[in-house]
Amino acid sequence: LGSGAIEAGAISIGDFVALIIYVERLVFPTALLGFTITAYQRGEVSLDRIEAVLTSEPQIKDAEDAIALPPELVLGKVTVQNLSHTYPGARQPALNQLNFTIEPGETIAVVGSVGSGKSTLANAIPRLLNIEPGQIFLDGFDITKIRLQDLREAIAYVPQDSFLFSTQIRDNIRYGIPVAEQPEVEGAAQQAQIHPEILNFPKQYDTLVGERGITLSGGQRQRTSLARALLIDAPVLILDDALSSVDNQTATEILETLSGEIESQTVLFISHQLSAAATADRIFVMDQGQIVQIGTHEELINQAGLYQSLWKQQQLEEVLQ
Ligand SMILES: Nc1ncnc2c1ncn2[C@@H]1O[C@H](COP(=O)(O)OP(=O)(O)O)[C@@H](O)[C@H]1O
Ligand SMILES: [Mg+2]
Repeated sequence: LGSGAIEAGAISIGDFVALIIYVERLVFPTALLGFTITAYQRGEVSLDRIEAVLTSEPQIKDAEDAIALPPELVLGKVTVQNLSHTYPGARQPALNQLNFTIEPGETIAVVGSVGSGKSTLANAIPRLLNIEPGQIFLDGFDITKIRLQDLREAIAYVPQDSFLFSTQIRDNIRYGIPVAEQPEVEGAAQQAQIHPEILNFPKQYDTLVGERGITLSGGQRQRTSLARALLIDAPVLILDDALSSVDNQTATEILETLSGEIESQTVLFISHQLSAAATADRIFVMDQGQIVQIGTHEELINQAGLYQSLWKQQQLEEVLQ
């Protein structure tokens, strides 16, 4: 293209070389400008997002007339009245007219297939989910009227995957009570059946967890999280599939300890492990957002229903394994 123009005498060789140099000089700044604009736009979006987080009003907050309820005064009675919850946009309610009372110190297992509403119930009690007033009561007080901080201190909640920090296992366990002494930490670890394994770690309770330290197995992570929750000794303990990676035998032993020794603690144990659930004082069987059966293991295996079929199914699976 350029050579044609030179041959025709329209431009000199010098002009042509100059043009090439100019173009070359312009390419990089132009590219950089594009890059800068993109970066600026991205930054603007991020800033908007951060601002949205910082200025957003939490949906779940203290009622204006919120009452103080010191956790040490809580007995741990949980009453649920006509509890329903439908997620935004969902066609079916996730919880549909639940009614029950859990007495202080009772251990309740909640079983049912995936999607039956177990986690929704587990989240509703500590108000991790925004529910309407008049449906859930702790020691007779409407939970939407209790100061959130007090409510959350009264209820220790352990999900399937808790967050462990890249620090000593001791500090992970005493996260809720940083001043806890070694005997208390060990006590909680013993109840959670993780103590003997910690003793086998190279630095025992000083062992670092995570990237710079040892990698815990799923079951070890869950039992460490459980120890963390047990150390707090909250009046109500909610375990939502929190022992799913722990073997059945150990999970059963842990639940036996929870329902036996620590009699003052109310426990809501959500699980697929029916052999562990069987040791609870009562079992709630959930199906499609409703509690379809309530009873002891003995009562439930002897009546036709969902529990009986779930139990038979699990027995069969154990035989086949
Ligand atoms: N955050 C959510 N948004 C919308 N729907 C949800 C949400 N969480 C759960 N659900 C729906 O609510 C129902 C109950 O779910 P969930 O309580 O998690 O059951 P489970 O714990 O028994 O498996 C399911 O139909 C599920 O798809
Ligand atoms: Mg769940």
